Amino acid sequence: MVDRRRRSVRTALVAEALRVALAGRVRTDPSGGLDIVDLGGGTGGFAVPLAADGHRVTVVDPSPDALASLERRARDEGVSELVRGIQGDAGELPGLAGKASADAVLCHGVLEVVDDPAQALLAMGSVLREGGVLSLLVAQRNAVVLARALAGHLSEARVALQDPDGRWGTNDPMPRRFDEAGITTQLAEAGFLVHTIHGVRTFADLVPAAFVDSEPGAAESLADLERAASEHPAFRAIATQLHILATR
Ligand SMILES: C[S@@+](CC[C@H](N)C(=O)[O-])C[C@H]1O[C@@H](n2cnc3c(N)ncnc32)[C@H](O)[C@@H]1O
Repeated sequence: MVDRRRRSVRTALVAEALRVALAGRVRTDPSGGLDIVDLGGGTGGFAVPLAADGHRVTVVDPSPDALASLERRARDEGVSELVRGIQGDAGELPGLAGKASADAVLCHGVLEVVDDPAQALLAMGSVLREGGVLSLLVAQRNAVVLARALAGHLSEARVALQDPDGRWGTNDPMPRRFDEAGITTQLAEAGFLVHTIHGVRTFADLVPAAFVDSEPGAAESLADLERAASEHPAFRAIATQLHILATR
């Protein structure tokens, strides 16, 4: 319960923005549910709730364990018929999901780990139908610079500030992080038009978890604060992640 509450603070904004974007698309699609591809969708944290909303979701992920959890989660929520898991990775996406087959593509926490982000963006663009939506969630460099400094790892903060991939050293488990300017340029090069950019987890990773878990109403207040700060440029610049909605 506590874990779920903390997780929901971290994902609520993304889920809300996505629902608004999909609602706009639903209005142009009389059949109701949309075809959604979740690249690296893992265990279905986004895919299963979207299926519960009536959308047909295909998760493409290289991890068999994640896909097994996805299947269980979909079964538990009674949406197995709307969720399809396919083992594969970003480079294989067009062949696996089908070109121009999706109204929306999700890529949440995945561009950081793929072999070739530019190729992955092109692949996602190719599976989208005209006017389809890309929901992209990427780790932001500035946040890790701040986090390493606040933890007293000042030289690692300095390395992350200047490293081309936004990593704080060779032991950094994250293969790459992004800057807003860099990711929007990459999206433009892949033919996407950016509509909105929100900062995600601006405070959620800074506020002590014990406080959020124990103080009545703290999780709701934190979610409110996150929402209010998410479009503010100064706070967006230090958010752990950037959530970008784009079309192609
Ligand atoms: C941080 S998890 C994010 C899971 C999910 N998108 C979410 O937001 O909860 C990263 C996911 O990317 C998947 N992944 C790793 N390499 C990948 C690749 N080359 N192509 C597609 N997915 C990949 C992993 O198996 C994992 O499920």
